Amino acid sequence: MRHFLSVLDLSAAEIAEVFDLAIELKTKLAQGIREPILPGRVLALIFDKPSLRTRVSFETAIAHLGGNSIFLGQDTGWGKGREPICDFAQVLSSYVDVIACRTTAHVRIEELAKYSTCPVINGLTDFSHPCQALADLLTLQETFGPLAGKKLAFVGDANNVARSLAEACGRMGMEFAIAAPPGYQFDGAFLLEMKRDLPTLKFTQSDKPAEIVSGACCVYTDVWTSMGQEAEKESRLKSFTGFQVNSALMKQAPADAKFLHCLPAHRGEEVSAEVIDGPQSLVIPQAENRMHLQKALMAWLLK
Ligand code: CP
Ligand code: NVA
Repeated sequence: MRHFLSVLDLSAAEIAEVFDLAIELKTKLAQGIREPILPGRVLALIFDKPSLRTRVSFETAIAHLGGNSIFLGQDTGWGKGREPICDFAQVLSSYVDVIACRTTAHVRIEELAKYSTCPVINGLTDFSHPCQALADLLTLQETFGPLAGKKLAFVGDANNVARSLAEACGRMGMEFAIAAPPGYQFDGAFLLEMKRDLPTLKFTQSDKPAEIVSGACCVYTDVWTSMGQEAEKESRLKSFTGFQVNSALMKQAPADAKFLHCLPAHRGEEVSAEVIDGPQSLVIPQAENRMHLQKALMAWLLK
């Protein structure tokens, strides 16, 4: 039994298998074929933060596969300390076949997985967002072909999405460059983890967006104020001045570079409207791929 808490839980070959299955299921869906390969299986979703994409793409995916989903909001007491995670995990996993969880501290999902008798999938924590990163690389593979040797440039907060993207690039032989203001870059502990787990990753971290987008096939950003950081919004707006992805910055990237964003986005902050709504933007097909990727991931984990 396997969990998917981190991109690094899968090898490059396993990610390639999941991508192949995602493309097969996506092609079939476009032909009107919804193969019920997980009949009667039940997905539980435990979310203690808001979500559009992650929740709906998981629920739709399991329905297409012939299974069912149960969305668990606040009523179960998850996140409220109603009972210890060890009891919660053992009981929930005795009922359902797979659990998708969005929560705050990453240790919470690690503890859930430790006691769960069915696969647990990370639907975002404060540390990482691995389903997002895999769907993003699937989108780049569809657009540019084989990923190895391609460069992804991330301009913005070195938070959950950026960490998972760096790991995914490392796994798939891509180069990863990030530009963020001092204080919002990857910390020493994460840099050490990357050196240990992804020794061949070509990696740059700087505070110069125009430099890192050079040679990139993709310029990526995320919100400056993530869920749970709302009290820091004003200071973050100040710190990230000059880090917006706009047309001037996109001109420093190759002419065929694409723009990606995990969404939700704030036009006028981390990205200008002309970039996110312009011809280089892939944000809508990127969001759609969350569903195809997670469908394949669930089928793969439960095979
Ligand atoms: N990108 C993403 O995870 O979106 P949601 O927060 O809407 O799920
Ligand atoms: N960094 C963002 C990603 C949302 C999908 C957040 O954590 O709010």
